Amino acid sequence: TPTCYDLTGRVIVVGSGIAGLVTALSLAPQPVILITRAALGAETSSGWAQGGIAASMGAEDSPALHLSDTLAAGDGLCEEEIAATILGEARGAIAALEAFGVVFNRHPDGQFKLGLEAAHTRRRILHVAGDGAGAAIMQALIQRVRQTPSIEVLEGLEVRRLLVADNRIGGLMAESRYRRITLYTNRVVLATGGLGGLYETTTNPSGNYGQGVMLAARAGAVLSDMEFVQFHPTALDSPQRPLNLISEALRGEGAIVVNEKGERFLGALPGAELGPRDMVARAIGAEISRGGRVFLDAREAIGARFRQDFPLIATLCGQAGIDPAHDLIPVRPAVHYHMGGVATDLRARSSVDGLWIVGEAACTGLHGANRLASNSLLEATVMALRAAEDVSSAETRSVTVPSAPSYPPATDLSIVREIATRDLSIVRVGAGLTRAVTQLLPHIEDDSPSSDAAIVAISIAVFAWLRQESRGAHARSDFPELSMVALRRHMNLREILDTA
Ligand code: SIN
Repeated sequence: TPTCYDLTGRVIVVGSGIAGLVTALSLAPQPVILITRAALGAETSSGWAQGGIAASMGAEDSPALHLSDTLAAGDGLCEEEIAATILGEARGAIAALEAFGVVFNRHPDGQFKLGLEAAHTRRRILHVAGDGAGAAIMQALIQRVRQTPSIEVLEGLEVRRLLVADNRIGGLMAESRYRRITLYTNRVVLATGGLGGLYETTTNPSGNYGQGVMLAARAGAVLSDMEFVQFHPTALDSPQRPLNLISEALRGEGAIVVNEKGERFLGALPGAELGPRDMVARAIGAEISRGGRVFLDAREAIGARFRQDFPLIATLCGQAGIDPAHDLIPVRPAVHYHMGGVATDLRARSSVDGLWIVGEAACTGLHGANRLASNSLLEATVMALRAAEDVSSAETRSVTVPSAPSYPPATDLSIVREIATRDLSIVRVGAGLTRAVTQLLPHIEDDSPSSDAAIVAISIAVFAWLRQESRGAHARSDFPELSMVALRRHMNLREILDTA
């Protein structure tokens, strides 16, 4: 029998990546319960981020230039006003992270050191500790959370269901290996990250299968842009799962992409190695599906300074027996980021009263059809600050206690992973999407161990089937053209399942 706790007056934040930690810290001294399914900060994509955080801080840069690069990458689907607001708050987000103890790399004269990544027309990526930005930011935030008495951290606890009555949050059900608990509150912030774990090859922690989307969708929240799953072009090709990332920052420093014959086959793309991520990923994917292998060659561009400038990547390559100063690095595309998610406004509110979503689980409209590199940590920070402000102003009221559903079985990802990898991948086709839906439908019953992941995958499949064009990260071999009208879709789970 679950133990029930009345937490009226306390905010529950779920997830301990950058979005969750910044939300909890910004709410202090208001009491917060921070729930995380592993140890604090572990198994988060934030902790694995190598690139850094994009912010228009350079003398030659401006929020307007950052916006135009973001809109170009987003391929017609970014919400321009939302993007302008989020990107325009970059300076404040960096200041907030610094106030929480993050130390960004600076030149001796105090200016930020700024890196370049694909499809950015200016150097604007702030790094921390070489290529270990994510881990270093997380370390600072975790330390601050541990020192903040108003934040109570519950580790090893997975949220299984949200409790909702009359479209209002009333609490949640969570379980660990040892216990089941029901917590009642009218304010929940989900910061549960992405869904790479739905796929065989991903750079995300493999247990992240879109829990935020699943929880919010089951609670009735509206989802948007679910079809847009971003593949990173250069994950380290090895038998290890999940795959290690080989940051775009290497290409920013001049590393080139070659095939087995040593040819730079990306030359035809706009921007070649530094072209839009979706195009580079598909070109590399196509080369591999023709039976070839693809490599990143950093020997000439970076060479002997590799270990000093990219210590994390040097170590990851070393574990696979590769010395990037002297060897080619075998690479392949892998699922890296989900542009879609739970639809939110600029206050991070979902369509369910009392439910805020921040970070990758949310879909603000910033990224459109294809996220610009390193915009995600920026969005996570800006929206966490905004969510905290809005949550603070929300009235505390006693909750209408909805009846708790029974606990679903432990999640098994295997069947769904097979279907998603086969049919919801880097290039889709109508017949494959129909097959995915048909095969996923029998798994969505609440008592199936595949059910939670199947709900997320079926949402991707339905949105992808409806998008009969190729745009950004969504490519259809049966609809290779961009359609004239750029349209975003918003649907709740009932509408998705009706369409299925
Ligand atoms: C990278 O370092 O290549 C990834 C950056 C990102 O995905 O934002």
